[in-house]
Formats: sequence, C-alpha cells, structure tokens
Amino acid sequence: MSDTATLGLFGLGTMGSALSLNILEKGFTLHVSNREIEMTQDFVVEAAAEDLSGTLIASDTLVEMVAAMPVPRAIIMMIPAGAPVDDTIATLTPLLAQGDTIIDAGNSDYRETRRRTLAAEKAGLTYIGMGVSGGENGARHGPSMMVGGTPAAWGAIRPVIEAIAAKFQGAPCADHLGPDGAGHFVKTVHNGIEYADMQLIAEVYGLMRYGCGQSPDEIGQVFERWNEGRLKSYLVEISGKVLQAKDSETGKPAVDVILDSAGQKGTGRWTAIEAIQLGRSANVIEAAVAARAWSTQVHKRSVGAELFGAQNEAFGVSEEDLEVALLCGRIMSYAQGFSILDAASQEFDWSVDHARVAEVWRAGCIIRSAMLDDIAAAFRSGLPEGELIFAPRFVSLLKAAAPSLRRVVSAALTAGHAVPALTSALTFFDTMRTKRGTTDLVQAQRDFFGRHGFERLDGRVGQHGPWWD
Ligand code: 6PG
Repeated sequence: MSDTATLGLFGLGTMGSALSLNILEKGFTLHVSNREIEMTQDFVVEAAAEDLSGTLIASDTLVEMVAAMPVPRAIIMMIPAGAPVDDTIATLTPLLAQGDTIIDAGNSDYRETRRRTLAAEKAGLTYIGMGVSGGENGARHGPSMMVGGTPAAWGAIRPVIEAIAAKFQGAPCADHLGPDGAGHFVKTVHNGIEYADMQLIAEVYGLMRYGCGQSPDEIGQVFERWNEGRLKSYLVEISGKVLQAKDSETGKPAVDVILDSAGQKGTGRWTAIEAIQLGRSANVIEAAVAARAWSTQVHKRSVGAELFGAQNEAFGVSEEDLEVALLCGRIMSYAQGFSILDAASQEFDWSVDHARVAEVWRAGCIIRSAMLDDIAAAFRSGLPEGELIFAPRFVSLLKAAAPSLRRVVSAALTAGHAVPALTSALTFFDTMRTKRGTTDLVQAQRDFFGRHGFERLDGRVGQHGPWWD
C-alpha cells in the first residue's frame, strides 16, 4: 500500500481468512468484514489465537467497514465470482471516494473484469482484477498472484502484494501482468493448465492401477520418486500423498472411497471456450474439461460397461515410459496455455510478458513445477514462431521423449483404456510436426458444397475447383 492508503478485505471464507492472516502476519493494518457476522467473529478469534490481532480492525458490515477506513482505501473482495461480485461493487461504489480502489481477488471471468473496470473508472474509482492461486495454504503462507489493472493501481498495492506472495529463490511470485482483465485471464489459463495436469496425472495413475495392476500405495510411492526428478511439482507431490492415504473408516486407500465424478467451478471450462474462440484450440485442456464432464455421467458409464464390457485389460509399459509420457503431456498443456495467452494478449493489446507469467507461477500456485523455470528461460531467449515446443531445450527434450508418449498411448488405446489428455497431447505433437496435413481436402469440400473458395499453392486466393464443370 502507499503510506496513506488503508487496506480492507471483504469475504472471510477459507481463502479470505487465510489471506487476511497472511496480510496481518506481514505487519499491515487490515480492516475486515463478511456478509455473515458470525464468520467475522470467528475470524477475530482465529487471528487472536495466532497473535495477529494487533493490526486488525473488524466491522460487522461492509458499510461499517468502509466508514471506518480512512481514505484512500483499497478493498479486496474475496468472494465467489459472478453475481456476488456485482452486488458487492454496487454496495461499495456509492460509499467510496475518488481514488479508492476495488480489488477482485476471486476467480472472475476476465470479460466481467473488463466491464467492471470500465464502470469503476467512470465512477472515479480504480479497479484491479487479481488472480490468486495456491488454495488455502497458499493464501495463508504465500500465494501466486496475477494482477490486472493500471500501472498506478499496481504501484499502490505492490508492497503488500509482494510481501504476502510466495517467493521463488527470494523473488515474489506476483506481478502486474497487464491492464483490466489480464490478471484474471492469466489465472483462467492457469486453471486450464491445472485441469490438464490433474487429468494427465490421473490417466497415468489409471494405467498403473487398472492396466499394470499396481496398488494406490505403490503408485503413490512411484509418484513420490518422480517428484524428485523432472516431474517435480505440487500436483505430483500431492497425488503421491493422496494415493498413500488410507480412509479412516474402512482402512481402504482413500481414493477407493471417493466417487469418480469430478466437480468444476468453471475456470478450466472457460479456458477451453476461450481457446476455441481465439482460434488456438487447446486440445489437452479441452480433453481434461471433457473428462470431468463425462465423469459425472456415473450411471450412464455403468450402463455402458454392461453393454460393451469394461476396459480393464492388462497393460504392459515401463515405469520410465509412463514418467516421460506424463512429462510430454505436461509440456503440451503448458504450450497450449501460453498459446491461448498469446492470442488474448494480441486480441486485447495487453502485451503480457510470458516469461513473467512463468516466473510468477514458479511458486505458490497449484501448477508450480520445476519445468516453469525452464519455460521462463525459454521465453527469455525468444521462441521460434512464438511456439514453446519449438524452444531448443524443448525440441531436444521432446525428440527423446515423444517415443515414450507414443508407446504409452498406443498400448493404452490397444488395451481399451480411455486416456483423452495423453492422446490429445500426442495428437497435438504429431499435428505440429506435420508440414502438409489433410485440410486441403476440407477446403475442397467447402468449395464443392458452398463455393467458399480456396488458396492455391501458388498464392492465388479465391480459387475454385473443377467440381462443377
Ligand atoms: C488455485 C485453484 C483454485 C481452485 C479452482 C479450481 O489456483 O488455487 O485453481 O482457484 O481450486 O477454483 O476449482 P474447480 O476444480 O472447482 O474448477
């Protein structure tokens, strides 16, 4: 904060409470309030228990909180995306003065952030859309934060954001990444990659479990080992822990008592939608979104298993191939995420620095992984055609690794296992190394039935084929 600005936080749910404790711990004065007063009271007790009440000022309502804050004020909203954000802005706007700042730290749709930024600026206010990643633990001890807004707005909140952010080798994993919706867009892409990485890990687990006959415990130990190497990442680490955990009621592996039907709040789906809209289809991320959607059709899938037979055929492939296949899938999903980001940055004139995005993701966030440092370095050295998988370090890695992905996908498909994300990764890779594909025929078909015209190899456009002669 600037010396005089006062910081407030509205929304003391899991993430809001954790972020508030983090802010208080770093010595900042913080006003807080919540829609339900009981949660504010609980938070006051929690802060006291951690000896963090010294700079805390709690109010019963948002209106009282704003009134208690000296101007200029910066108010962080940590509330569910959508209507609650608009409702809170509607309450806040008449209470605030020129120069006050509203910060939306939830998982908002970047289009809404763009709209809200315009409206706030019209009202003489400053608006920041800030993606926050890292779950409860991240919010409490150091999240990764992706800020969208004006440079002046960033300058005003920078000290507090950098103080509470995760650190990678001492550097804060938070930065101003562009104007208005840029921060929330980067967070959306983060979540798309998060979905893809989770799905890739789950597919590899499925192959080891139902194809190779390994127990969750054994697979958890393999993941633990992988987490010491090139796959080092938060998601592989927690997957290893999850797979080795036992259900306290039954003594069974914890995963075995969980219904195989995945929820989604929407950000992964938004990434897939944006990818398609921006003409940069991200099939690994799309496959992960599709896999979650199909997973919810639990009854239908059991009917399908009766009708067609289940997929549990034995599956032979080496542990090393599985590890490397997962690594390849991860590279493809990062590459696709950055490609969507590139398209949006061009579309909205955001000039997002991709290397900074990779750096901000190196610690604190859900997709943090050892590979992000390499990705940042690749962007810094400049990419051929702006394509991550064309960076020299990834070209040599993929040349050596792609055969493993191919062996895993081929064996899995032959044995009847559904591996949509791994298959998509391989398809993307093969497509990106195919100089002449088959859309010449698609163009001919379009011309045949709709006179859409095509470009000839010699560069002449608007040409038609001989089909109607
Ligand atoms: C994070 C997470 C967090 C949350 C998402 C995903 O970066 O900390 O992405 O924001 O877990 O909302 O939720 P869904 O899986 O329900 O979409």
